[in-house]
Amino acid sequence: MLPTTSADLIPGDLIQLDHQATTPCHPLVVQAMKPWWEQEWGNASSRQHRLGLTAAAAVASARHRLASHLGVEDDELIFTSGATEANNLALLGHARARAKAEGRCGHVITLATEHHAVLDPMHQLQREGFALTVLRPQDNGLIDADMLNDVLRDDTQMVSVMAANNEIGVVQPLRALADLCRSRGITLHTDAAQAFGHLRLNRDELGCDLISLSAHKLNGPKGIGALVKRRGVSIQPLFWGGGQEQELRPGTLPVPLIVGFAAAADLAHADLETWQQQLTLLRDRLWQGLKSRHPQLEMNGAHQPRLAHNLNITIADVSGVRLHRCLKRSLACSSGSACSRGEPSHVLQAIGRSRREAEASLRLSLGRTTTAAEIDRAVDVISACINQLHGS
Ligand SMILES: Cc1ncc(COP(=O)(O)O)c(C=O)c1O
Repeated sequence: MLPTTSADLIPGDLIQLDHQATTPCHPLVVQAMKPWWEQEWGNASSRQHRLGLTAAAAVASARHRLASHLGVEDDELIFTSGATEANNLALLGHARARAKAEGRCGHVITLATEHHAVLDPMHQLQREGFALTVLRPQDNGLIDADMLNDVLRDDTQMVSVMAANNEIGVVQPLRALADLCRSRGITLHTDAAQAFGHLRLNRDELGCDLISLSAHKLNGPKGIGALVKRRGVSIQPLFWGGGQEQELRPGTLPVPLIVGFAAAADLAHADLETWQQQLTLLRDRLWQGLKSRHPQLEMNGAHQPRLAHNLNITIADVSGVRLHRCLKRSLACSSGSACSRGEPSHVLQAIGRSRREAEASLRLSLGRTTTAAEIDRAVDVISACINQLHGS
């Protein structure tokens, strides 16, 4: 059974609304991993004794279950240390392989609102001689196929567009983008770190060639993720070693983390729709509660299509530093990505917010254990801080 209150998972009475940074590992996931740390500690590449073979069987089972959730074949899933590595492997690996095959560095495209784990490898490709277009989405955070079409070139080799945004939660129209890319022979990568386990993702329905995943955004362990690679899409490895993962990602497989990743994905998919409906109600209760008390608040990003557990708001007339200082003791939330090096959100600035507005913004992200009582407390706490800052 899933725990129903945060008290089951999180000590203390800090209201936890920062689940897009990471989530607590689910107790059933911890339980599923336990034997693989202790009794069954074999190396999945050791084929000559039972410990190794048992570990290999556990990896095979986890791989199969994860692949099934995405509608792909088992050998299309490559385990990595997380979505950061999966993005680097996909973007650097594919662009370099393609440049080698075609004898030239081509053109690559991404969005200004991507996570740094996409933007930084894209800038690395630019340093290596690829032409890079960073496309600014509309003010609601979304792009469409026409906007992408406008920046395609004859030499465009790869496009990377995230499935769901980690700060403003908007869900991009991947299918339409994939149809366009496919008609032009362009590889489409998506960073689905925030979407997997929250939206049903079928690779063929999405039409993507490369998909990056992370376990710790869906109540799985930190330090494990995967790259889903369509058969026939070439990638060069980023490093070399013992030949694991089809020689694309060598290194001893972290069996307990892989088992935990699959257990978390199974749990997330078991009640995905019910859970999403519940989160939508809670998220809307949070928004309506805040908006009714402070009509000047603005929501960042389109209300739909959006992840059910995300709300991002700007409180334009207060100081961001003072707002976050005021909230800190009672509420865990953020002003942007946990991987933003302390800078005001580049995502919010890309959708038209000033630096000052970006600083005075809150990303409020709900989790599996968030309750209506916590939402009401969060409304009270945020509202009290806004009133205090207005009064001072
Ligand atoms: C959209 C997105 N991509 C990539 C990452 C990095 O994932 P990981 O921590 O698994 O490397 C994150 C996590 O913050 C994310 O939100």
